[in-house]
Amino acid sequence: MRILAIESSCDESAAAVYDGEQGLLSHALFSQIELHRLYGGVVPELASRDHIQRLLPLIDEALESAKTSASAIEGIAYTAGPGLIGALLCGSALARSLATAWRVPSLGIHHLEGHLLAPQLEPEPAPYPHVALLVSGGHTLLIEVKGLGRYRILGETRDDAAGEAFDKSAKLLGLPYPGGPQLAGLAQHGRLRRYSFPRPMLDRPGLEFSFSGLKTAVRQAAAAVEALPAEHRPQHRADIALELQEAVVETLVRKSLRALEATDLQTLVVSGGVSANLSLRAQMAKAAQQRGVRVYYPRQEFCTDNAAMIAVAGHARLSAGERDVSAMGARARWSLESLGVPTAT
Ligand code: KG4
Ligand code: ZN
Repeated sequence: MRILAIESSCDESAAAVYDGEQGLLSHALFSQIELHRLYGGVVPELASRDHIQRLLPLIDEALESAKTSASAIEGIAYTAGPGLIGALLCGSALARSLATAWRVPSLGIHHLEGHLLAPQLEPEPAPYPHVALLVSGGHTLLIEVKGLGRYRILGETRDDAAGEAFDKSAKLLGLPYPGGPQLAGLAQHGRLRRYSFPRPMLDRPGLEFSFSGLKTAVRQAAAAVEALPAEHRPQHRADIALELQEAVVETLVRKSLRALEATDLQTLVVSGGVSANLSLRAQMAKAAQQRGVRVYYPRQEFCTDNAAMIAVAGHARLSAGERDVSAMGARARWSLESLGVPTAT
């Protein structure tokens, strides 16, 4: 089965073509970073307006580079949630309209299932069962994954997501949106242990996360830097960035190991925007090697939002016969555990 996939849950517009036999044939993406930078974060209404302009040309681009005509498309998958409702509706309305016009089935996909399946685009997919650490701008979850659609949430964040901790700290350090990659870049120039930040929830048992306290610690440290002589400030900002990254990474690594122990599993998938972080990858690799754990990641460009991951999930479900049933094609909130295995509808 050959399908088209569309992603528009936040500030990336994307389209991809995926074939059951040949795998990913193409993917095209437009990031709205420049559009939102002026405001220091995503402005939902602007995101929706831009998705409307970008999606059709991106679909054309994806079809063209896959050397596929619309008539060869046998199904359309789109991100139905969770995300910004206006942005989601742009993708879902377009996907469902095209599906009607092309007389093919459509299916709304859970954005987080897309992230979970992104490493399956690599030559060696992660075997089931495994534990997944899903770390993005909106979510921080540890999940026991027994198979497609068989998800049990082991722990999640009580407040900010890991990506949010990066983004908000970056803002406090005067870095432009989106802060995660910028903060990681600044951290490369930092000196270790010049600052001391809390490791949230590490001292307690369990698999829950909490990152909002870190933001407060960074705010205080960043304010203190302003009192230093101007020539010392850049170095101190880099020190803070490094220590913030260390605190988040150590928490993610230790909790992931805890989840593997609790489930008696040896395979870990790390996905979502923050899985692009090189310090997280290095420290996770070290800890995993000591314990004989295999870790799987998406390639860098598929860590952050993209349509290729929606295509993988869409293909798995559409080819099993699953179809859209509800009239409304978007949900701002949607529980991952409610998904279930793909079934013909
Ligand atoms: O998965 P994603 O593209 O969007 C959501 O579904 O939320 O994740 C975006 C998040 C942002 O918070 C961004 O700052 C963070 O991922 N991020 C990073 C890095 N690259 C992206 N955080 C830390 N280090 C990075 N290299
Ligand atoms: Zn995402």
